[in-house]
Amino acid sequence: MKITVLQGSARKKGNTARVLTWVEEELVDLGHDVDSIYLHSKNLKGCLGCGKCKEKPDTIGCVQKDDVPEILEKMINSQLVIFSSPLYFWGFSAQIKAIIDRTYGLYTNQPEHTSLVDGQRQALIATGAGAYEDNAEGMIAAFGRMQKYHKAINAGELFIGSCTTPDALDGSVQQKAIEFARKIVG
Ligand SMILES: Cc1cc2nc3c(=O)[nH]c(=O)nc-3n(C[C@H](O)[C@H](O)[C@H](O)COP(=O)(O)O)c2cc1C
Repeated sequence: MKITVLQGSARKKGNTARVLTWVEEELVDLGHDVDSIYLHSKNLKGCLGCGKCKEKPDTIGCVQKDDVPEILEKMINSQLVIFSSPLYFWGFSAQIKAIIDRTYGLYTNQPEHTSLVDGQRQALIATGAGAYEDNAEGMIAAFGRMQKYHKAINAGELFIGSCTTPDALDGSVQQKAIEFARKIVG
């Protein structure tokens, strides 16, 4: 399976990256083709809300000249996309949010609901300093709602809370990451 991983944390050796490493290693061991994109090194602009992308339903169609169209192209050509992010103020990091907003051009609402990622599996991996409760629900809910517009299949969400340093992420977290990797490929 062709898998695109969107690394949404700026910290290359942070908590999110550590969890992702375990997931990616398992996916590679299972024989999948994993392309991991470190978003912070890319030129990512926010959505302009101009709606030009909606004029051509079968193309990405964004007028902006940055690295996002290439990333969206990789997403379209993947069977599974893993979104990842540290939890920032109960939501996504700016890097992953920029990509999410720019997926506006991947689907149409009228005259019918079509999507360039129709039927694609999508998963979310997030880390935070706090617990899940009263903290991560908004991010998880927003992710699910995005998938309805994408006509994507929700492959699963993994939230690792109570994070301090990457070295403090123990074998039980590693095991959760490995099990999650096995689950999201279906
Ligand atoms: C700007 C900022 C906002 C944060 N907001 C939250 C939050 O709302 N909830 C939470 O549990 N942790 C929050 N944190 C902590 C991070 O989510 C947590 O340390 C995460 O594991 C960092 O991931 P990273 O090491 O991959 O960067 C925040 C950290 C920063 C820097």
